[in-house]
Amino acid sequence: MLKVLGIESSCDETAVAIVSEDCNILSHNLYSQIKEHEVHGGVIPELAARNHLHHINNLILKSLQDASLTLNDIDAFSATAGPGLVGGLITGTIYAKTMSLIYSKPFIAVNHLQGHALVAKLENLPLKFPYLLLLISGGHTQFIAVLDVLKYEILGETIDDALGECFDKVARVLGFSYPGGAKIEEVAKIGNELKYTFPKPLQYSNNCNFSFSGLKTSFINFFNSALKNITNKEIKQELIADIAASFQYTIAKLFDVKTKKAIDMFIKKYNQLPTAFIPSGGVASNLYLQSKLKSIVNKLNIDFMVPSKSLCTDNGVMIAYSALLMLKQGIQHDLSFKINPRWSLNDLSTTI
Ligand code: KG4
Ligand code: ZN
Repeated sequence: MLKVLGIESSCDETAVAIVSEDCNILSHNLYSQIKEHEVHGGVIPELAARNHLHHINNLILKSLQDASLTLNDIDAFSATAGPGLVGGLITGTIYAKTMSLIYSKPFIAVNHLQGHALVAKLENLPLKFPYLLLLISGGHTQFIAVLDVLKYEILGETIDDALGECFDKVARVLGFSYPGGAKIEEVAKIGNELKYTFPKPLQYSNNCNFSFSGLKTSFINFFNSALKNITNKEIKQELIADIAASFQYTIAKLFDVKTKKAIDMFIKKYNQLPTAFIPSGGVASNLYLQSKLKSIVNKLNIDFMVPSKSLCTDNGVMIAYSALLMLKQGIQHDLSFKINPRWSLNDLSTTI
């Protein structure tokens, strides 16, 4: 039975996993660098690169140990080759290439977004192409038609900030440390989502693009002016909760309009409904947004599937599993394959 080792190191998580041909996760290890970057309010690329180098060796050893395997038992070595931060991409791919060279096994370069797109299949084996993915992470916000292992079409995307970035910036102003997305979800639970109305950029545009930059500025300006008159601690807490809830409500309303548009576009292009609608990426672990998206797509008779939390956020499983699917199609990459910090999903088939 084939076994593939995958390395993810494109941003601030160093992750290694081993997946077998029968879709078993044999090991799944991760070192999150959040603590190192938190104090700076965001990811510092140089610091991230050093941390990857520091942790990757032990994570590989631990992954082999957890799976009771040696490097000799691995049938292919894979790593994220883009998009992402140069230092991390170099670290991960050099490790995978070196192991593939020493053990004479294939090297497979995986696109980070491809990993997010395909991992849903691992937990839902009957899931067939084509399906519709909403990738919502710290770096991306895209509706992607997932047509095959190497075939994707971006139907719409943010024209400025990613949704996770917007969550993080709003969270920082509300007083939460980086990354603040999950903290907004938490505090919003006690807030009144109808208390404040905020603009919904591109709501009426005839496409499924988003724009979060203006929305973020509008929240920040509103909060700063509302806060000016407040000294009472409890009233301030209530304001924060109401703003967080109203923020999430605004995003949910935008999702409502844009998801319907994306599904319309999908049907027009491929003459069929998507086999499923799948949110993925860190923001997709938000249960409030999950439930809103679920009710939108279920009303349209489309299945809703969301990867489990640890597979929504960056992880090595999505890289190992994508590589496994490629290996089974006879796809592998030359050791001269170069990382690409801006590697687009549209360029996959031309890079082999
Ligand atoms: O996919 P991810 O782990 O890393 C990449 O950006 O590729 O996503 C991280 C993003 C951060 O912006 C974080 O604040 C956001 O996902 N996030 C959330 C939640 N959990 C993580 N945003 C909203 N609600 C959450 N529960
Ligand atoms: Zn990601």
